[in-house]
Amino acid sequence: MKKIGFCGCGNMGSAMVKGILDQGICGKEDLIVSHLTESGCKRSRREFGVEATTNVADVVKYSPLVFLAVKPQFYEEVLTEIRPYLTTEHVLVGIAPGKTLDWIRKRAVTGLKAARFMPNTPAMVGEGMTAVCMDEGMPEDKKEILLKIAGSFGKTQVVPERLMDAAGAVSGCSPAFVYQFIESMADAGVLMGMPRAMAYEFASQTVLGSAKMVLESGLHPGELKDMVTSPGGTTIEGIRTLEREGMRGAVMEALISCWEKGKKM
Ligand SMILES: NC(=O)c1ccc[n+]([C@@H]2O[C@H](COP(=O)([O-])OP(=O)(O)OC[C@H]3O[C@@H](n4cnc5c(N)ncnc54)[C@H](OP(=O)(O)O)[C@@H]3O)[C@@H](O)[C@H]2O)c1
Repeated sequence: MKKIGFCGCGNMGSAMVKGILDQGICGKEDLIVSHLTESGCKRSRREFGVEATTNVADVVKYSPLVFLAVKPQFYEEVLTEIRPYLTTEHVLVGIAPGKTLDWIRKRAVTGLKAARFMPNTPAMVGEGMTAVCMDEGMPEDKKEILLKIAGSFGKTQVVPERLMDAAGAVSGCSPAFVYQFIESMADAGVLMGMPRAMAYEFASQTVLGSAKMVLESGLHPGELKDMVTSPGGTTIEGIRTLEREGMRGAVMEALISCWEKGKKM
């Protein structure tokens, strides 16, 4: 009997599978994943050595713990295909925005327990941030394995379900904006004469180090900003420019638009 299954194993599924295997949550023989295509199956077999199938029902037949790691628009179709094989012993984990515990349960079988993860792609390098919520009455042993899995590819927090869409915006979507920030910092470096590779390293390591400062110093981000900002110096000139260009408002509006879209999905 396989233990952990993934319906879909693309960007997010692969990151999760990698974390599970790297942290020894289970062996590769205890994992089964499904793909739409045979080439996807070959990729998972080659990268992870796991069993891979184009028949999504096999995942449910072999595994009592099933992650729904397909794009949100395929949730309905995949749930219709797997429903005949679901039992009350299964735990279904949705990772898509807007697919609530109730939405998943209604399309499964009565009595089945559901959970939701909201991971992000930094999980690929073991630095994910994953929000988790689950049905009340989730058995303790299942709760324990779910949290172990969520912690295998980064940090995790259990949150009330009403905050899952917020987590989707603040940690799920925002890596894209951080990459845009890094790219624009590096573009500026190139304009100033830095070689491209050097500009990316300087920009990326600065973002990494600054995030670590926030997480590890316990200081308010504003206080950390003040520490960089000498009176009459260079940094305060840049801060004036960012304030004038509305950076903070733009970032807030971007995350709010993700949140609003997530609620409608
Ligand atoms: N990417 C993110 O940053 C992120 C963050 C948080 C949550 N999520 C959620 O994670 C989920 C997966 O996203 P992703 O970025 O990993 O997508 P993805 O890279 O496109 O991967 C989707 C996977 O599903 C498979 N698939 C597609 N249709 C299928 C079907 N009908 N039956 C079975 N398998 C099917 C694909 O197979 P092939 O390999 O053969 O194409 C692929 O392995 C989404 O619900 C998304 O909202 C993503």
